[in-house]
This record gives sequence, C-alpha cells and structure tokens, in this order.
Amino acid sequence: MSERITVSLAARSYGVHVGTGLIGRAGTLLAPFARGVVPVVTDENVALGYLDRLLVTLDEVGLDARPIVLEPGEGTKSFAGLEGLSNALLETGVDRGGLVVALGGGVIGDLVGFASGVLKRGIDFAQIPTTLLAQVDSAVGGKTAINTRHGKNLVGLFHQPKIVIADVDVLQTLPRRELLAGYAEVAKYGALGDADFFAWLEVHAPQALAGDTASLTHTVAHSCRMKAAIVAGDERETGDRALLNLGHTFGHALEAATGYSQRLLHGEGVAIGTVLAFRLSAQLGLSPEADAARVAHHLKAVGLPSSIADIPGRRPDTDALLSHMQHDKKTKDGHLTFVLVRGLGHAFVTRDVPLQAVRDLLAA
Ligand SMILES: NC(=O)c1ccc[n+]([C@@H]2O[C@H](COP(=O)([O-])OP(=O)(O)OC[C@H]3O[C@@H](n4cnc5c(N)ncnc54)[C@H](O)[C@@H]3O)[C@@H](O)[C@H]2O)c1
Ligand SMILES: [Zn+2]
Repeated sequence: MSERITVSLAARSYGVHVGTGLIGRAGTLLAPFARGVVPVVTDENVALGYLDRLLVTLDEVGLDARPIVLEPGEGTKSFAGLEGLSNALLETGVDRGGLVVALGGGVIGDLVGFASGVLKRGIDFAQIPTTLLAQVDSAVGGKTAINTRHGKNLVGLFHQPKIVIADVDVLQTLPRRELLAGYAEVAKYGALGDADFFAWLEVHAPQALAGDTASLTHTVAHSCRMKAAIVAGDERETGDRALLNLGHTFGHALEAATGYSQRLLHGEGVAIGTVLAFRLSAQLGLSPEADAARVAHHLKAVGLPSSIADIPGRRPDTDALLSHMQHDKKTKDGHLTFVLVRGLGHAFVTRDVPLQAVRDLLAA
C-alpha cells in the first residue's frame, strides 16, 4: 500500500512515495536516479533498525552502496559534521553524476542535503525520512542547512531531492515523544489550510499514532500533499511558503527560552505556538475563540503540550520570549511578522501585529 505525490518544480520535480514496506523496495525506486557507488548516510540509531535492509535492496539492483554512519543528535548538523561527512563522501569515490542517500530524521536529511548540494558543486540526493517530522516536513521542499553559533539553520541552500521515500513502518520504533512532536506539524497543516483534514485528524489521529498503517499513510501522504502544493507555488519562500511557519514564531521563542533542551522539543514548541497563534487571532477579533479552544483540545487529546504552563520547570519569562521574537529575523519597526488565522484552515501572513497584543497574550 503506497501513495505517490509529485512536488511540481519544472525540471526539479520529484515524487514522494508514502506507504508501508517501501524500504524493502527502495532499490527499485532509487535505481533510476543512481549508478555505481551510492553513499548511504544515516545515524547510529537508525542504522540499528534499517540500514542493512536498505543495503540489501540496493545490492539487489546492482548498486554499490557505501554506508556512512554518523552520531545521532542536533550536534551532527554542524560545520564539523559537514567537514567529516564531505570527506567521507569523497572517500567513497561517488562521482558528480551519482546519488547520495539520506536515511534518517531531519538532522541527517538537512546535513546530507546540504553536503550533497555543495559537494563537487552539487550532486543528487534522495531522502528516506525515518521520523514523522522528517516524513511530513523536512524531507519535502528542498531546504537544507547546518547550525552555526549564531543560530540554527543559518548556513544552507535550497537543494531538492530526486525522490523521497517515506516508509511509515519505520515510525514503529520512533520514541513516542518524537512521534508526537512530529504530529504537531501534521496538525499544523490542517490548522493552516485544511479544516476537513483537521476534522479527519480529530477522529483518526489516535489510531494513526497507535501505529495503524492505513491511517498513518493517509496522515503522512496528505501532509506531504499540502506541503508539496505550497512549495510548488513558492519554492524559495518569498510568499505563501511562510504559512508553514504557523506556530513557529512563538515556538522558536519557547525553544530559545528553554535553551533548545529536552525540556521542549521543536514540535512541542510548535504545538503550543499554534494554539497561541489561534488565541492571538481571536484576541485581535480575526478568528473565533472556539477554534483556538478546538485546536488546543485536539493537541492535548493526542498527548501534546498545548499551553506554556505545560512546559516542565520554571515558566519562561514574558520579556525573554518577546525579546527572542524581536531578535527573530522577521521583526520590522516594532511590529512582528506572524502567521495568524481567520478561522480554522485559513492562515495568512501579517506584518502588523502590535507588540502589546503579544505581550498581553503571553502575560495572560
Ligand atoms: N529542512 C526543513 O525544511 C526542516 C523542517 C523542519 C525541521 N528541520 C530540521 O530537522 C531536524 C529535526 O529532525 P528530527 O525531529 O527528525 O530529529 P532527528 O533527526 O534528530 O531524529 C530524532 C531522533 O530519533 C532517532 N530516530 C530517527 N528515526 C528513527 C526511527 N525510525 N526509529 C527510532 N529512532 C529514530 C534519531 O536517531 C534521533 O535520535 C532539526 O535539525 C530541524 O532544524 C528541517
Ligand atoms: Zn517546524
């Protein structure tokens, strides 16, 4: 059982395959894009469960797979990580017409996408995302980057993959907390642009998150379809792609205020941030309060945090949050750029949210 979604970007178009049993068929899916040496980059956790199976299928189609196993964790997405990976890729002898495979979560996808984008001035790569977040978000759309001491994702490039293979079976071994964090991005798609999908999720998310493959496939495929449509309309985020940042201005501030630690995963920040964006929209008279309550209720029901009070430990200080938002590159003349909503499923970008409204909301 699988679905295929196309990301339509003229000569850079590619397919996103979503379903079960896909890693077992990956050799056949990848073969049209590869020849000879195929570096397969993954992390230690993912390697344990899925590397051998992937290597076997590549071997079956006559490709010379070369595993490169990196340390798990955000720290790998760094200049040092880039240097190590670039040298490891060069050691495999992969040529400019070759293909590099990224097997892992967003850390592996972002690093491998960037490394292959600059290696020999750009070679092709494929994404085999293994976290829910990577399957519904980071593996689709071509944004790649590493972190710097000035902030996350500040050095990178747009480099679209040749193919994305999202096998929902692999989500079974993902820690529950990581699964839920990825789910926050799924709920975000419904909240920003598809009220019917949100309503479907209200009914089916519990079974999808319990591992039911049919509902999980629909959950991932529909999310990819929505992201593909947005990316196809605005590849380089000069317009509507910014809608994908619903919940992220608040979310990033919360992540920063909690020191990017295990206290709050990115997706958990997005969950709280999405509720805050709905509440701010309601406070500004743009959206019914009932929609904010509905989004909060759903996120809570699946087990995600839905308010700042749900963050363990000391409550992040309002001024600290505001200052993180102002330092965000999106601030202009004392007004913050936000994604707000005119009701569930109707997000829009606005550049004139008064700081005071945000302060009132955070202080409440
Ligand atoms: N490029 C984009 O558009 C984009 C979008 C969103 C996020 N990101 C980036 O993605 C990164 C976060 O990605 P992530 O949440 O996937 O984190 P991650 O890659 O660190 O994976 C989370 C953890 O799960 C483990 N893991 C992965 N797959 C597994 C599986 N199937 N079973 C068991 N364990 C597994 C990993 O080893 C890791 O420990 C961040 O660096 C973020 O900046 C990029
Ligand atoms: Zn996100």
